[in-house]
Amino acid sequence: MAGFELDKIVSLCKRRGFIFSGSDIYGGLANTWDYGPYGVELKNNVKAAWWKAVVYRREDILGMDAGILMHAKVWEASGHVKSFFDLKSDCKSCKKRFKTVDLKDKSRCPECGGELTESRPFNLMFETRQGPIEDEGSLVYLRPETAQGMFVNFLNILDSRHPKLPFGLAQIGKAFRNEVTPGNFIFRTREFEQMEIEYFVYPKDADRYYEYWVNERFNWYLNLGIKKENLRLRPHAKEELAHYALACTDIEYKFPFGWSELEGVANRTDFDLRQHSEFSGKDLRYFDDATKERFYPYIIEPSGGVDRSVLAFLVDAYDEEKVKDDIRVVLRLHKDLAPTKVAVLPLLKNRPEIVELAKKITQDLKKTFVCVYDDTGAIGKLYRRQDEVGTLYCVTVDVQSLEDRQVTIRDRDTMKQDRVSIDKLKEYLNERLR
Ligand code: GAP
Repeated sequence: MAGFELDKIVSLCKRRGFIFSGSDIYGGLANTWDYGPYGVELKNNVKAAWWKAVVYRREDILGMDAGILMHAKVWEASGHVKSFFDLKSDCKSCKKRFKTVDLKDKSRCPECGGELTESRPFNLMFETRQGPIEDEGSLVYLRPETAQGMFVNFLNILDSRHPKLPFGLAQIGKAFRNEVTPGNFIFRTREFEQMEIEYFVYPKDADRYYEYWVNERFNWYLNLGIKKENLRLRPHAKEELAHYALACTDIEYKFPFGWSELEGVANRTDFDLRQHSEFSGKDLRYFDDATKERFYPYIIEPSGGVDRSVLAFLVDAYDEEKVKDDIRVVLRLHKDLAPTKVAVLPLLKNRPEIVELAKKITQDLKKTFVCVYDDTGAIGKLYRRQDEVGTLYCVTVDVQSLEDRQVTIRDRDTMKQDRVSIDKLKEYLNERLR
């Protein structure tokens, strides 16, 4: 919608229990966010939709879940110890820190005008120590990407599952980066979740699969309801490429603060497998049965952010429409993403028979759908509340229901109402939600 502000989403998220600022009662910890009851459902649904699309519906991708803590050598091999840094400058007066690339004037603080320090490299990995003794060997990092967990398990996967090229590994998990300038709500944080695929191909096929994955991933967002005009592709210029990449295309979303990266699809070449072979001393080459050759496959990597997707889906779904003299706020989330599918609402809560029937219907629907019961307000208010959290269908139980065993079903998007027999309720919902 036009004139959209991020504040509207932040406020809705807090008001309705999607996302709260972290450590709230202690005044908050800057740029940390906690997912509340609706937020966790939405986030889980995003992850489930991704897993379904890239693992369950395909024959060529296997899922896995590696640890956050890995051997420190992993990050030497990957190049992160040497190359994963931002250049930063500090203000000598107000002590604020800035990414050098973001500064128009590299010598003056953009906030207070104070003098800036020389630009210095700042490694983005969080360091910690493992075990009771703090020596060289106890150094570990919180992983800055989930990808490496898949590369270091390449041999285990080959030995246990014997996949043939091309094949992929998929993983969802937390990653940590000590970002110099986090911000824009859950867009850039220091703790976040990634959904990554490492797709191993014959080197000669790398360009073709790179194009293929750019399209596949672009369409995934469209299929889950993101408006086409809010999505675009941006190929990287040579100088912006990460140290491991030969090519990269960002899938960008038109956020309220401008076009920004939602996901990157990169051609990582054979960089990672070669590096890990060299650093671990293990031969990570693939043996091709047909040609009897050993070689390092190339890797095409679609790497998306769970939290960024959640934000894009929220922004894209947010709508305000005039209904009589009122403004209706509605989250038009895709049916697979909506946190709650059905709400059962008794029209009169002072009629025990109605309440009893509504609760019975809720219990029955809960066996099949994510369904809630709510009787904490007048019906108009209950509808508005469910619209704001994106609930797809509201089932209203009224006096008439006691006699004709029928209920009213209201569609979130059209507000159209149907009268349906209680016996046929599951069938009605199944047709629309499956
Ligand atoms: N393995 C490749 C890789 O990590 P990346 O472009 O640095 O590539 C991939 O990150 C995705 O992870 C991004 O497109 C974004 O969605 C998400 N991401 C990266 N840094 C993030 C941060 N600080 N906060 C939230 N999401 C982030």
